Amino acid sequence: MRKKIAAANWKMNTTVPEGIELAKSVRQALEGVDRKCDVVLGVPFTHLCAVAEAVKGTDIIVAAENCATEPKGAYTGEVSAAMVASTGAKAVILGHSERRQYYSEDSETLVAKVAQALDNGLQVIFCCGEDLEERKDGRQFDVVRKELEDGIFNLSEDEFRSVVIAYEPIWAIGTGETATSEQAEEMLKYIRQTIADRYGKEIAEETSILYGGSCNGKNAPELFAKPNVDGGLIGGASLSAEKFLPIVEAF
Ligand code: PGA
Repeated sequence: MRKKIAAANWKMNTTVPEGIELAKSVRQALEGVDRKCDVVLGVPFTHLCAVAEAVKGTDIIVAAENCATEPKGAYTGEVSAAMVASTGAKAVILGHSERRQYYSEDSETLVAKVAQALDNGLQVIFCCGEDLEERKDGRQFDVVRKELEDGIFNLSEDEFRSVVIAYEPIWAIGTGETATSEQAEEMLKYIRQTIADRYGKEIAEETSILYGGSCNGKNAPELFAKPNVDGGLIGGASLSAEKFLPIVEAF
């Protein structure tokens, strides 16, 4: 059965000491909780080692929020997937709309990053989603299909098994405007069908597909109750254990 996942995306928030405190408080909050989902903490590069240490001995998965396109060498300021893996992180978030928008990450870049991540044994949380104009024009399905086709459908079946999809409509990220559970289910069902068309029904059924965009403790139970919604990628509501815990418990 495919995994349910509550994944935090801290983005560019918290200093290292604050991040350690946050990771420890999440760890503490989860102790004794009968969880039905995996918990992932997506944290800045600077925090990876310390957060991995803070959650050591638990099954909390630490993830980076990006990695380089190249394996190593003269790329000042870049952080390779091998470096990420050497911190104890097990996953990486790739293709987030903020990276696509503000750092011009296109599909070609993402294909290279995904390859690096998989080569280094990292699970990939691959983000996709349309902006408001595209939704208004009714193009959301085409936009998402193209992001999948151009970003990850080059992978072999085996490689694809290490990928989790996160659908994040850009108009819902950090805006307080969540997609309705019907809108989320409609898109996630479409994504699963698109995966089935490419990789077959069995792999599609095993792929975890998350919703992201103003997901919180209040709306998570309704979203996660939908048959194709396997969890969430959580930004704002992942920045305190108090807000994150109800999401983990929403399954
Ligand atoms: P949000 O961010 O929960 O703050 O809307 C989600 C994300 O961008 O991953």
